[in-house]
This record gives sequence, C-alpha cells and structure tokens, in this order.
Amino acid sequence: MRQVLFQGLYGLEQSAAFAATLALQRMIGLNHPDSAAPPLQGEALAALRAAYVGCLADDASWLAKQPAPFQQRFSRPYAQWLKRLPDFLKDARRVAQRRLHGDFQQLPPHAANYPAYYQRTFHWQSDGYFSEQSAARYDLGVEVLFLGAADAMRRQALAQALGRLEAHAGARWLDVACGTGRFASMVRCAQPGMRVTGLDLSEAYLRFAQRTYGHPSMRWQHGDACALPFADGSFEFVSSIYLLHELPKPARFGALSEMLRVLKPGGVLLVADSLQDADEPRFAPLLNAFPRDFHEPFYRDYCRTPLEPWLEAHAAAEAVQVHTAFVTKVITARRTTSAS
Ligand SMILES: C[S@@+](CC[C@H](N)C(=O)[O-])C[C@H]1O[C@@H](n2cnc3c(N)ncnc32)[C@H](O)[C@@H]1O
Repeated sequence: MRQVLFQGLYGLEQSAAFAATLALQRMIGLNHPDSAAPPLQGEALAALRAAYVGCLADDASWLAKQPAPFQQRFSRPYAQWLKRLPDFLKDARRVAQRRLHGDFQQLPPHAANYPAYYQRTFHWQSDGYFSEQSAARYDLGVEVLFLGAADAMRRQALAQALGRLEAHAGARWLDVACGTGRFASMVRCAQPGMRVTGLDLSEAYLRFAQRTYGHPSMRWQHGDACALPFADGSFEFVSSIYLLHELPKPARFGALSEMLRVLKPGGVLLVADSLQDADEPRFAPLLNAFPRDFHEPFYRDYCRTPLEPWLEAHAAAEAVQVHTAFVTKVITARRTTSAS
C-alpha cells in the first residue's frame, strides 16, 4: 500500500515538475532560435525520451526500497524556488544578452584570484560561480535544463555508489565540487550516520550550501579539486558530480588523481557527468551544441576523451562500472591498492 502511494505521488510530482520546467524552458528561451542544436528527431528523439523515462523508473524503484523514500524524493525546495522565480526570470534576460554577445568575462573583481579556466560565466550565468545570487539560481536552472530530472540523475549516482560498498555509521564521504550542496544533502538524507564533507572552489556557493543544507554532521570546505586539502586515504567515498566537463584536460585528470589519493583502499570513487561521444552517438547533436549554447569551452574535449581507460589504468581500481541515467554517465570504481 505504502509502495503504491509512493509510486503514485512520485508520478504526480514528476509530471508537475516536467510540465513546469518545460514551460520555464519556453519562457526563458532555452531552446532559443539561434541554438546550435538541431532538434533531435525520429529514433534519436525516441531514445532520448526512453532514457528520461528509464532514469525516473530506476530512481522510483531504488527509492521505494529505501528506509525514507518520501523524505528523499520530496525534498526539492519548491517554496524557495517559487520565491526566487521573479529574479530567475529577470536574470534569464541578462543571460540571453550575454550569450548573444559572447561575453563570458562579466565577473566580480575578486574572480582574478582564481584559476584562469574558472574566470568565466559558465552556462552564461550571471557572476559565474562568484556570488550567492548565482548560487541561489543554480539548482532551479539545472532542473529546468534537465526537465525536472536533475535530482533523479544525482540520486542514481548515489544508488550506484551505495550499491558497491555498504556504508557504515561514521563512514566519511567527500563530495568534490559540491556546488550548492544538493548532492551532499542527498547523501546525508540517505545515510544519516555518515560524515559528509562538501568541497568547492566557490566560497559563495559554499556559503549558500551551508545556509541551505547545513547540519552538524556536514562540513563545508573551501578548496581546489586539483590539490585536495586532505591526507591520503581519508574517505570511504569520494564523489564528483558534473565537475569534470568544466575542467581543461590537465585539471580534469589532476582532479581524478587527487580524488583517488584521498580515497581509502577499498573505498568507492563515484564520478557522474555528461555522457561522452562514444556513449550514445544518436545524441551527438545535443552534445555538439551544448558548449556553445551554455558556454562550456572544455566540454568538447571532455566528450572526446573517455574517462574509463584512464580510470582502469590509474585507479588501481576493481572493475570500473558504468551506468547511464538519462544524459548522465555514472562511473564507480573501488580502489583496491595504492593509486598511481
Ligand atoms: C556544474 S557545477 C556542479 C555542482 C554540483 N556538483 C552539482 O551536482 O550540481 C561545477 C562546480 O564545480 C566547481 N569547481 C570548478 N572547478 C573546481 C575546482 N578546481 N575545485 C573545486 N571545485 C571546482 C564550481 O565552483 C561548481 O560549483
């Protein structure tokens, strides 16, 4: 009975999220006329729809087996998003202007203290990652982009990691590039006994994360993924969600090496990011247009460079496993010996 109620409410909420995010996509002109993406058609469109529905079905059935499925599923901060909607819509006009003029360097002065690749308005978003206003718009923006499936994709990543290692109370989880803290808060919700640390390069996003999801068992750490401020083998789980596609190649693999270094032997590495070129050739028009439409200068290189061979060669990891969730590729690996 409880399961039926859960599945029913899940379906209702997700249908509402889909309709609302589609309406918002149209209002803010996300599928703008000068988009580099020709719309998917025929078999490719059917595959995209099937991937969307499949991800939600996997999410619903995983959640249904969890101890607190309602709490985990219905945690989206709708009241906050509604309150911020006028600002989100107003800002969308500034984003459209920035995209039109290709102006990716409208940033606050303190941006100059950060790595060169980071000094840009990723997604054309106002202030890049350099203000709390940007953080306050971020999660809604991501849900709009993924038509209400962003949380479900992140949760599929969580499910894959927890499927590889039974988490025990007191185990430590590091989420690298935690952004607004959404994924770190999902980890805490699913595993209340764990000690979760969220690390990010953006101080503004970390302040937002702490205010929004702060809890005594959580820690927020300012730092660089390429030089993690932790001793070797400090964590049972290390994750990064939607970080790697934003990094130039040396930083991308430098960050992966660091994540392996701070992972305990036997621990689980979780990497969730965009599908890459070889994963689903039918989605090529989307993957090709994304970097221009969303100002992602390192994304094409990310798509062309599969992560799995590097992980297999360097992770000292047991069977690298891959799972796809809509347009996200989830990779898990267990570190078995010292990382090279
Ligand atoms: C696309 S967002 C992903 C945020 C979050 N993980 C999520 O699930 O939405 C990328 C994040 O990576 C962070 N970031 C980029 N380069 C970083 C670095 N070198 N070290 C730590 N964080 C970094 C940004 O500040 C931003 O919060």
